[in-house]
Amino acid sequence: MESRIKSGFFSSSAVFILAAAGSAVGLGNIWKFPYMAGVNGGGAFVLFYLLCIALIGIPVMLAEIYIGHKGRQGPIDSFHEVAKSEGQEKSKFAWQGYVFTLTSILILSFYGVVGGWSIYYTYEAIMGTFVQITPDESGAIFGGLLANPLKQILFQVLFMLLVVYVITKGVNKGIEKTITVSMPVFFVLLLILSIYAMVVGAPKEAFSFMFSPDFSKLNAHSMAEALGHAFFTLSLGLGAMLVYGAYMPKKEKNITKVVLIIALVDTVVALFAGLMIFSLVFANGGEAGGGPGLLFITLPTIFGSIYGGYIISIVWFALIAVAAWSSGISMLEVTVSHLENKGISRKKTSWGLGVFITLLGFGSVASFAGWETKFLLGKNFFDTLDFLTSSISLPIGGLIICIVVGWTVSDKLFKEYLSTISDTTFKIMRFVIKFIAPVLIIFLLGYLISKV
Ligand code: TRP
Repeated sequence: MESRIKSGFFSSSAVFILAAAGSAVGLGNIWKFPYMAGVNGGGAFVLFYLLCIALIGIPVMLAEIYIGHKGRQGPIDSFHEVAKSEGQEKSKFAWQGYVFTLTSILILSFYGVVGGWSIYYTYEAIMGTFVQITPDESGAIFGGLLANPLKQILFQVLFMLLVVYVITKGVNKGIEKTITVSMPVFFVLLLILSIYAMVVGAPKEAFSFMFSPDFSKLNAHSMAEALGHAFFTLSLGLGAMLVYGAYMPKKEKNITKVVLIIALVDTVVALFAGLMIFSLVFANGGEAGGGPGLLFITLPTIFGSIYGGYIISIVWFALIAVAAWSSGISMLEVTVSHLENKGISRKKTSWGLGVFITLLGFGSVASFAGWETKFLLGKNFFDTLDFLTSSISLPIGGLIICIVVGWTVSDKLFKEYLSTISDTTFKIMRFVIKFIAPVLIIFLLGYLISKV
């Protein structure tokens, strides 16, 4: 059984944790979460987001990893293997595996563009561009990047090359080797930055902004955003955790602990990123509700004027690039894993897909550069992709995972799998996967669709 997967296995559960945390920690934590918290008024949004992670994110992650770890195949065949373990011939839900691969291709196409921005910003930081920069100049640099498709493509291609290269090398020589270096580097950089931001910034204001809830600021919209983001930030609903789960050594028994660590790491990184950004923003008269430009416009201005800002700006954007890289890797692996286990060469699929995804990304580049053509519901190319994936496909992926594990996997096998938790915890977990998570996901989907 164990040897059936062609891709191989991670050398240890610790590597699995690093890889899964590397997938989870990405642009979602450092770029999206802080600006969403800023736009949605801080405290109450943050609390609700934490609740979503704990009550829904963790059980759904357990369920997704179960399918991979039990199924031991790519994102499609794992569903069949799970059905077989329940005595059925095949799964009715294996089509979801194709949705996973399609969605991962679509998401990576624009994730690669934003990943490219982070490399471009690292480059500009090294060149000293942000030193003494004014807010207007900073806005002009970001605007200049968006308006220049060739520049965006250059850095997008660079980012994609880094992702594809790692994937061609395989699970051990590629993903494992990269992750075991890049994640420790990431944590050290994050620690340096956080200490720095606490010392030169306004940590008290940042703390009270992030943690004192004003529930009048919480509405259906911000709640839906928080729930959707909980999925995105934990890399759920795309098959990434499923596929990494298939590479986790079989002997790992304490899956709950593994999942808790991954969720904790992801959450701590998001909170640290938020605290450090707001600590700098509040100390320098910036605007917390600046939206998506918070990272690429507000922060460079601050770095340009504070002590040690030159070095710090390099560290900051390199940190983002590293985080985006390990997330991009996990997205590409979803489809490559399926094809490799069907006997198709990893090298060929990695390069072929890489080229295809990069070309597809040109559509998003064009959208950022002002291509107005509408595709769906009056949205441009990028917004259409973002909407179809983040708002529709990921929640549906999460829903199907809950249905498969909640309703087609027997209590007996699932309990055996989660052998280390108490009966009560198991019952709660089971209840969440069967009822609570699906209902909330349907609520989310309904809300998002009603808004369009
Ligand atoms: N979690 C990553 C982030 O926060 C993005 C990501 C990687 C992702 N793999 C995923 C999102 C799978 C959804 C599904 O940036």
